[in-house]
This record gives sequence, structure tokens and C-alpha cells, in this order.
Amino acid sequence: MGDDQPFIIAKDNLDTGLRGYPIGYCITSHVFPEEGVYYRQYPIREVVYKEVEEVMFLLIEGKLPSSDQLKTFKQELWAYSTVSEKVKKAILKLPRKGHPMKMYAMAILLLGVHESQNDIKKDFKNLLAKLPELTAIVINHRAGWGKTPISKPQLGVAANFCQMMLCPSITDKKLFKKFITLFINLHMDHGGGNLSAFTAKAVASGREDLYGSIAAGMLALSGDRHGRANEAGLAFVKKVYKNLGNEPSADAMSNYLKTLIEGKQVIYGFGHSALRCCDPRSTELFEFAEKYFPKNPLLNTASLLKKVAPPLLKAGQNIASPESNIDSISGVVLFALGFDFPEYFTVLFGMSRIAGIGRQIIYETLEARDGKGVPIYRPRYIYKNM
Ligand code: MLT
Repeated sequence: MGDDQPFIIAKDNLDTGLRGYPIGYCITSHVFPEEGVYYRQYPIREVVYKEVEEVMFLLIEGKLPSSDQLKTFKQELWAYSTVSEKVKKAILKLPRKGHPMKMYAMAILLLGVHESQNDIKKDFKNLLAKLPELTAIVINHRAGWGKTPISKPQLGVAANFCQMMLCPSITDKKLFKKFITLFINLHMDHGGGNLSAFTAKAVASGREDLYGSIAAGMLALSGDRHGRANEAGLAFVKKVYKNLGNEPSADAMSNYLKTLIEGKQVIYGFGHSALRCCDPRSTELFEFAEKYFPKNPLLNTASLLKKVAPPLLKAGQNIASPESNIDSISGVVLFALGFDFPEYFTVLFGMSRIAGIGRQIIYETLEARDGKGVPIYRPRYIYKNM
């Protein structure tokens, strides 16, 4: 196939969720099936321990910042970083019910209601700057953990978020901050076709403003086939642990998984629609977990699952590449850190992903096709008489 015809649509491609269809260009990141995600030209492993602001700058500007550029970028974020009283009050009136991702999307919409300038670049900067506080307010309010402390943007995105997020059971705050930096960096972008980025761009193509488009993206992230898989991933590891106990043998694990596979149950944390290798983000998280929590029983279970599950899934469910993905371990590390509140895991994912999605929206709205932008999304469906 030449470049002019990158994909041929056959009948088998219909009703497959656009799987693999080339739609356009993505400038922020690319997912290589055999290698995992690159942020711009950097494989993910090269940037995971940088400051969050450096990685944001990389996605937004296309290169890592010099120290002067980083300083300026941080100062720009500080200038917009405080959530106004009006927005805070409106969020605190939201009912503490339903999945927290719904409240998160509503909080982003409320920010837009009060502050949208209908200018994608300005709105993106405003949202990005306010994310640590906005996210902490949503989590603290929804969980009933009390009044969110004053934002201290000079601490940087990760540390500022951690000092505002009041979860009472985190044992080692310094380590939690280190992990949140890693977590945000690992989740910041994953190509152009993942459901949250795609949805946000589709909504933006109709000329909804940035806040509404990102809120739509957050709702797309909210299901357990996408962002909420991290919540499901921890629940699965806990279930396996409950059934097999601490340090089960590989044989016991294998027999247990075979029963689940035969019963067509989902083995969470394995396989990925865009990857044909072990997700490098999962490798990073396993390294972190093995370094800081070598004796954690759930980590032992997750590590054994990582070894035993892939060949069984390949044979039993005919999955071409069922290696472990990021959701097999991210929740386990949060649990080990004392953040055993899985309903907020996807909110953390959402906060992390907004830099990538927002930059992709800017490209599609203002830069694609020599500045004309992408027209309103309008794929064709074929009528079926049934
Ligand atoms: C991910 O981070 O793994 C995703 O956003 C899912 C995807 O790439 O489709």
C-alpha cells in the first residue's frame, strides 16, 4: 500500500470502533506497537522521571525546555494557577454521588462556565495551570476529606497537587510525590486515537470550547475499557490474592487463571489495542514497585500474574499479544502507597492526560491543513436494514 492509500476498508472493518483506521496526524506522541509510546521523539522511559512541567513542555512545544524556558513556562502556569472562589463554591455544591469522573467532568465544565474566553490557547493554559487545585478540590470534596489547602504553585505541579490532596492514609508523603510525578508523566499522552483524545477532538471539531471538549474526553476516559481499567486492574489483583493467598505457586496461579479464562471472565491488565509488546509504562511501574514495595503481597500477586497470564491468554482467548499493560500495576502501587481509594484512580489518570489532549485539540483546530484546521468530524455509516 502506498502513502496515498494507507488503509483499505473491507466489510470486516465495519462495526469495529474505527480500529486501526488512519484519521489524521498526531504531533504530540506516537504508539509503536512493538515498542510503546514515544512523546514527540523520546521513548517514554527517557522522560518518566523528569519534572511534570518539563514533560508538558515537551508535548506542547516539541522539545525539552532549556532551564530558562522551563522557568518561564512554570511562571506562566503560576500566574493562572488559583481556582477562583466562584468556581470552588460551585464545585462544592455538586452532589457527592456517582462516579468521581462525572464530578471531574462537571468541575471542568464549571471552570469553563466561569472562565472560558473562547480562545483555545488561552483556555488550555488556564485549565492546565489550575489542574492541580481543581483535581484536589474534586477528590477532597467527593471523598469528604475536608477543605482543600491553599494552592502553592511554586512547589510545582506534582508537589502542589500532593500537598492539597488530603487522603488520610498515605504513609510516606515524599514517596507519594515521587510516584505522582511518575504517574502523571506516564499517563500524559498515548497517541491520537485513544478514546478520550479522539472524543475530545471530535467534540472540539464542532466548535465546542476547550473546557467542554476536554470534559467530553474525561467522560470517554471514564469507562473500564479505557481509563477506569486501572480501578478494575486493582480489583482483579485483589480478587486473585483473596482466592490464592500470599505467594501462590506458579501452578496454582496457572490453574486459577485457566478456570477464569474458560469461564470467559476478563483478566484485567493484559493486552492493549495498540500494543504488541509489554507496555513500557508497566515496566516502569513494576520497577518502581519492586524497588519500594518488594514485600507487598499484592505486588507479588501482580508480578506472578505478569509472568503466568500472557501465555494462557494467548492460548485460551486467542489474544495475539496479551502482555501486561499499565493498568496491571498502577492501582497496585497506589494501594501500596496507602491510596486505597480506587474510585479516584481514573481522576488521577484524567488530570495527567489533559496536557496531551489539549495540545492535540490545538493542532487539529489551529494548525492542521496549513492552519485551516480539521473540519467537523463526520464519518459515514452504512444503512443496515434489520
Ligand atoms: C492508554 O493510555 O493505554 C490508552 O489511552 C488507551 C489507548 O491507547 O487506546
